[in-house]
Amino acid sequence: MSHPSKAGRARSSGRAGPTACAGTDLSVVISGGASGIGAATARRIVAAGGHVGILDVNGALARQVAKGLGERAVAVTADVLDEGQVRRAHRRFATALPDIRGLVNCAGMPQVPRTIEEYAVEDWSAVLDSHLRTTYVACREFGGAMARRGAGAIVNLASVLAFRPGPVLAYGPAKAAVVSLTESLAVQWAHRGVRVNAVAPGWTDTPFLRPKERKGERDLTPIIRATPLGRLLKPQEIAEVIVFLLSAAASGVTGATVACDGGVMAGSGWMPYGGIPA
Ligand SMILES: NC(=O)c1ccc[n+]([C@@H]2O[C@H](COP(=O)([O-])OP(=O)(O)OC[C@H]3O[C@@H](n4cnc5c(N)ncnc54)[C@H](O)[C@@H]3O)[C@@H](O)[C@H]2O)c1
Repeated sequence: MSHPSKAGRARSSGRAGPTACAGTDLSVVISGGASGIGAATARRIVAAGGHVGILDVNGALARQVAKGLGERAVAVTADVLDEGQVRRAHRRFATALPDIRGLVNCAGMPQVPRTIEEYAVEDWSAVLDSHLRTTYVACREFGGAMARRGAGAIVNLASVLAFRPGPVLAYGPAKAAVVSLTESLAVQWAHRGVRVNAVAPGWTDTPFLRPKERKGERDLTPIIRATPLGRLLKPQEIAEVIVFLLSAAASGVTGATVACDGGVMAGSGWMPYGGIPA
């Protein structure tokens, strides 16, 4: 089977496989980089010597995070649902940052559990879009550019709920679709030097766990009981896996979804037998 000539060039130049994410001349764009897992990933990349582009609809928070990281971080306010805004953000990053070789898709809104009878189609679609459409739009813009240049790595944020769906009728399907999209793009871009992987976190201690529409303080005990490690994960723990997948150390990994879930998926089979051993 023959491959496009550009792909051949990318392979013969030796750039197709390994893709570093950190280094003085490389940048990673992080959608949803102003909070939680995205902000932890930005800190980790800058600490390793890389540059980051923080792309978030919450401009004030994005600027605050970038300011804390110094001159190797740039914030751009954009709604990743909107292709035009993402294209403009890309132009801004391209002038402000060195070579963009990485993309991490963290943007998305939480969903409070609802039955199908009480969950309006429009609300269902909004949550689906906020995870799936944002991932598609950002991959198309930044991944497309990396494929044209023949080098890059993408990490999409899935969730344990992609594999163990619960009562979040939009969030679970959105994350299952993110896993599927990750696999499709990994194969489409494999010969153009762009690796595409996903991370499936378990419950992680970020503002995402406490959606505004949830009234009162959330009782996190059931979540902690369902997690064999017996605690919430830290955003930094998810960031470590993301950075590994972006790095040259993961040069052979593409199309994978890596769980970083404190054992949630492995532990689910214990629930009918009295739960996870203490
Ligand atoms: N926290 C968890 O327990 C958990 C578990 C599994 C998966 N995840 C996934 O990890 C990712 C990051 O989650 P987090 O916990 O860091 O959440 P978070 O709420 O702390 O951060 C999400 C960020 O995305 C931004 N955002 C939302 N919609 C956007 C849009 N349309 N355009 C631009 N920015 C937008 C928000 O402003 C926010 O800064 C999400 O995709 C989430 O589904 C989180």
